[in-house]
Order: sequence, then C-alpha cells, then structure tokens
Amino acid sequence: MLIERLNRLPKEVLGRVKFIGSVADEMHMNAYVVGGFVRDLLLGAKNNFDLDIVVEGDGIAFARELSGKLNGRLAHHKAFGTATVVAQDNSKIDIATARKEIYEFPAALPKVTPGAIKDDLGRRDFSINAMAFGINKNNFGQLIDFYAGNDDLKAKKVRALHDLSFIDDPTRILRAARFAERCNFKISPYTLNLIKQAASHKMPEKVSPHRLRDELILILKENEPVKCVKLVEKICGFSFLHPRLVVDQKKISSLEKAAKVMKWFEDNFRHKRKVDKWLVYLMLLLEDLPAAEIRKTADRFAFRSGEIKRMLSFKADCKRAILKLKSELKPSDIHCILDPLSYEVILLILLRANNRSVEKNINNFLHHYNEVRILVGGEDVKKLGIKPGPHFKKLLKQTFHAKLDKGLKTKEEELEFLRRKAKR
Ligand code: CTP
Repeated sequence: MLIERLNRLPKEVLGRVKFIGSVADEMHMNAYVVGGFVRDLLLGAKNNFDLDIVVEGDGIAFARELSGKLNGRLAHHKAFGTATVVAQDNSKIDIATARKEIYEFPAALPKVTPGAIKDDLGRRDFSINAMAFGINKNNFGQLIDFYAGNDDLKAKKVRALHDLSFIDDPTRILRAARFAERCNFKISPYTLNLIKQAASHKMPEKVSPHRLRDELILILKENEPVKCVKLVEKICGFSFLHPRLVVDQKKISSLEKAAKVMKWFEDNFRHKRKVDKWLVYLMLLLEDLPAAEIRKTADRFAFRSGEIKRMLSFKADCKRAILKLKSELKPSDIHCILDPLSYEVILLILLRANNRSVEKNINNFLHHYNEVRILVGGEDVKKLGIKPGPHFKKLLKQTFHAKLDKGLKTKEEELEFLRRKAKR
C-alpha cells in the first residue's frame, strides 16, 4: 500500500509533503505528488527526495505562496506554468500547473494549456512515470493511476502511453533505455516498435541537441551505463550523436574496461577530486572520430568548455603521454607529463597503455608525486634578495622537482637548495 510506504519515509520528507498539501488546502487547490517520486516509492527504491508537485490551478501562484511559507527561493517559467522552490535545506520542489500539451510539429516543444491531473498524467512518457498521489487532506496518499502504471511496475515493463510519444519527444527513446536498465525492466514489444519507427524516421536527429545531451549525460551517469549504451545501440543507435559513430563489441569492451579502471580509482583515491565518469564514457564513445569532428560535435551539443577541453586533450595527449611514460623516468619527468592532464585523461591513458612501465609511473604519480608540495614559498625567495619576476616561479619549480627527485625532506633542505640555485 502506498500510504504504508509514505509512512516509512524520513520524517522530514513526509512532513514536507503534508505541509505542501496543507498549503494547497488553504488555497482551495488540488495538489499531487507525481512522476519519479511515486514510481520509486512504489518500487521501494527511494533515495532521491526531490518532489514533483502538480496542482490543478495556478501553479505559479501556489509556488509563490509555498516559497514564502518555507522561506525558500523561487524560480518560475511563466510560459510553461512551472516553478521551482528551493527550501532552506536546499531540497527542491518542482511545481507545475496541471496541463494539456499539444505538439504542433514533431520534436518541437509543446504548446501548453491548463488541464486536470488526468490530462497532465496522460501527456507523460511512460505508464510507470504517469502515476500520482493526492496530498490534500481528503485524499492524502491515494494512488492515482489512470494508465495502469502500477501493473506495469509489477510486470517490470516500460510502456509508452500513446503512439506518438517518441515522435513528439524523441528524447524519450533514451529515457526508455535508462529506466529499463535502471529498474531491470523490459521495454514492452509495442513500445519497442514505436521506438524503432521513430528511430527509422531519424527523429532523435530532429530534437534540439542540448535536450539530447542532457538525456545522454543521465544515461552515462547511471549505475550501469554500459548496459544502457548497449540498449540504446540496439533500439536506435547513436547516429544522433554523430552519423559515423560505431558502437560495436570493441567499443563496449572499452567502456567495460573503463568502468573497472574508474572503480579502481574510486576505491584507492577517495580523497581526490571526483572523476566525471560520464565524460570518460563519452570520450570513449567519440574516440574514433577525428579531433575536428569531436570539436564540432561537442560544440553542437553545447558541452561546457572544461568538458570539451578534456575531450580534445584525450585525443591530443594520450598517445604522446603513453610513449613518454614507457621509458625510465625521474619522478619530476612523470610529474611534468601527468600534472597538466585531467584525471579523466590519466585514467584513459592507463586504460589504453596496457604496459607495466606506464602503469607503474601513473601509480606513483597518483599515490605519491601528486601529493607532494614544497614548504618554501615566494616570501622565502624574496628573503634571499631576489627581485620578483619570472625566475621566481622557475626557482620554486626547480625546488619542487628537486624535492621529487632528491627527496628533500625539511624546509631547511629546500632553503639550502634555493640558496645554491639562487647564487648561480
Ligand atoms: N517526463 C516526460 N517526458 C520527458 C521528461 C519527463 O513525460 N521527456 C515526465 C515523467 O513523468 C517524469 C517526470 O516528467 O517522471 C519528471 O521527469 P524527470 O525528473 O526527468 O524524471 P524522473 O521520473 O523524476 O526520473 P529520475 O529518477 O531520473 O529523476
């Protein structure tokens, strides 16, 4: 029973849901929790407590009132009748006016008019995401399931609600793969057929790229992204990303190996900056394209400049770094090669090298050299009577390299090194 599941939620989450319901009662509006929250609650897989609320009535007025009462921050999008309230504890409540959507042409953003909860649920992607429960006092915790979502949850099925679903919104093809793999569900045969039809009309190529990008990132951020990639390849392919992109068995085993290398990094280097795993997978997906094509694709999908830089660096620096790292090197040489590179690229070098020396050098860099800091600073150089200038930086760098190579231990040893260098 849904109400029992609700009662097992953390106290503050249940309290928040009841509070939102009480604001709806005061405003004489019907309010519902909808979408992923309901799905995950019924699956017993709840770990994300961001709320999606739909109200029958003016959603923005409701959000304004709620935000005031919660002392929260409000952002709204008038054209869609939606708003987001960010509460004091930074939890997010998305609020929407119950709406009907009309797609005037395929893959466009829909025209929106106010509607009732049934219309609102009927415009959604899959039956498992088209359930709601009431939060007003008179229907608190009552499941609203016009489209047999709960049956599909039990049957482990991803089923689209209507025949034009993937024509109206082709990003849903990627969503189907994501939910199927995440929940270990099957895409229903009829839905699969609809996906294949949409794919054969190249519908994904017609969506604005940033919407596809967001869904692709979500796929690559799933717990088992490689399974998702395989499924996307099977149901529609990746030509939406680039017409020459091939996801064959070789590519899949590359992705699988990358997953292992990233797990090794996570297990051993918890204290270090987190690796953007999704980006590593994407770099591997795009790897066979020429750099200019990767750049064009990255620009078209409006990835961030830091992300694009890392994608191109893999292409530009990986082979060269492997060649260098195969030889016998001083710690400072290893540091010079690896320090300018992102962890994402370093892990890919590890993956691609398949060579003991490279592995040893990267291991040493991550375990030791990357942690080393010198104890002397600009002030110490100044005290030696040296005027600030570019050689300042050079002297400190030389000291740092000496620390790596000669094992300077104390600040006194570093100062002594500095003094000798400065004299020359
Ligand atoms: N939705 C939709 N079509 C889309 C995107 C979203 O119908 N292209 C609907 C679904 O009902 C979904 C809800 O909007 O449940 C919220 O979308 P989103 O936050 O992306 O998905 P969640 O279901 O909350 O999934 P997740 O657990 O990944 O956040």
